[in-house]
Amino acid sequence: MQDTNILGEELIRTFYRMVHTIGIYKDNNQMVHEAVSKFMTLAGSLAKGSDLEILIWRGRLFLQGEKLSYRRETFAFISAWLDFFQERDLSGIRFLTKVANAPRGEFVLLARLLNESISQEEPAAWLEDQLFTRKIDWVEMIQEVEEPLSKEEAKTPSDADLDRDLLRKQKARQNYKRALDVVKEVSQKISAQSTVGIRKARRLAQNMVELVMEDESLMHCMASIRDYDDYTYTHSINVALLAMCVGRRIGLSHILLEQLGICGMFHDLGKLDVSTDILHKPGRLAPEEWEIMRQHPLMGVIRILRLRAPSGMKSRIALGPFEHHLKMDLTGYPKTRLTQNVTLFGRILSIVDTYDAVTSHRAYRVRSLMPNEAVCFMWNRLNRQFDPILLKVFICMMGPFPAGSVVKLNTGEMGISMGINPASKKPGQRVLLLVKDEAGGYRKGEILNLDEPEKGEKAAVKRIHSSIPPSSIGIQPAEFLMQ
Ligand SMILES: [Fe+2]
Ligand SMILES: [Fe+2]
Repeated sequence: MQDTNILGEELIRTFYRMVHTIGIYKDNNQMVHEAVSKFMTLAGSLAKGSDLEILIWRGRLFLQGEKLSYRRETFAFISAWLDFFQERDLSGIRFLTKVANAPRGEFVLLARLLNESISQEEPAAWLEDQLFTRKIDWVEMIQEVEEPLSKEEAKTPSDADLDRDLLRKQKARQNYKRALDVVKEVSQKISAQSTVGIRKARRLAQNMVELVMEDESLMHCMASIRDYDDYTYTHSINVALLAMCVGRRIGLSHILLEQLGICGMFHDLGKLDVSTDILHKPGRLAPEEWEIMRQHPLMGVIRILRLRAPSGMKSRIALGPFEHHLKMDLTGYPKTRLTQNVTLFGRILSIVDTYDAVTSHRAYRVRSLMPNEAVCFMWNRLNRQFDPILLKVFICMMGPFPAGSVVKLNTGEMGISMGINPASKKPGQRVLLLVKDEAGGYRKGEILNLDEPEKGEKAAVKRIHSSIPPSSIGIQPAEFLMQ
């Protein structure tokens, strides 16, 4: 086990270094020569007798079917390698035994092709094509994988669960940060009048689909991030995440979830056309300022249609953002002569957009609503503003104390709701207890599963009494949930 890890890390490190070095220097450079020699020797010795396969499965690396352990010291470089492959839509690479006799020039060529593939529309297909036409037959690119058969036995289940949980959180945080960067980049490029594509956004939306399918409750925790300095961007990602969670609940396909995620990321792109004075104005907007504000869904569509992307894709992601402030009775804004119903994406966006907006602190609002108050606020607008079925799906999904709510228990203890316990058959809240630390702040305590009692069963000793604003105890709930 240990050997596989060390050899695996070494192989990946050497391969990554070779590709990276060849991306910088010319073929006859000494550094290139050394990097290629090192990789050739290692791959040749490891692939003796059987093919050598490196796979990515759910964000983890597998060498010959064995999962490489996650170590903090190697996380950065393994992440870089994962990104390198995911950016090229690859799920792995297989070196056949003939790698031992492959000519040096072909290693250099392989590295150059890998570097070049990033600028291709379909990197993985392009690579496959290039390898075929250049008759490079000692390496194969893997695009889709089945679950690798792990021979891992060394870890106890609890260790493995902990490891998985830690990694999933890390991956989710990383994905959130990248999605923020993509929305920022797209916004900045639009503001600078340069053209911008949606490839990165698509890839991140695909990652989000994977994360939502894997652990929806973690995504609820993630979507409780509130960054007041970066509100527009965090709001866009939260809307994307929650919209995808609703989409998953109603059984949308992966491809539709991906499109819905992109709609969420870009739903407020039209706010680039609204001055920051209006966007951040404390207090009520004047009628003429409202008029400008009400244009943002329409401006958003114009912005989306100018993105560099296939027209079919753009038409699929433009309508939801256009409709996200339209109500079920077609009032709302922008004013439209539409007579048909708001589309499914528009109805989902409208619900999750309202939820995230009313629970966030905004300069013009006296106070933001607590998550459980927001759910009640929205329930009172059922039918007129929101699709009743979708709102019910949303409310069931969020539970009475949505993830991120700071709650007080009947015992006087404080905690943060982690949403509904997905593993429980009975509807039960999960709560992360907060424990006072020496500095007067809070640290993480144990996680409680507060299942509802069944008929005839005694109620749990501990239950949620009420929720309180996070600001009253000076914490950012998401920071605790995502640690
Ligand atoms: Fe909006
Ligand atoms: Fe919005």
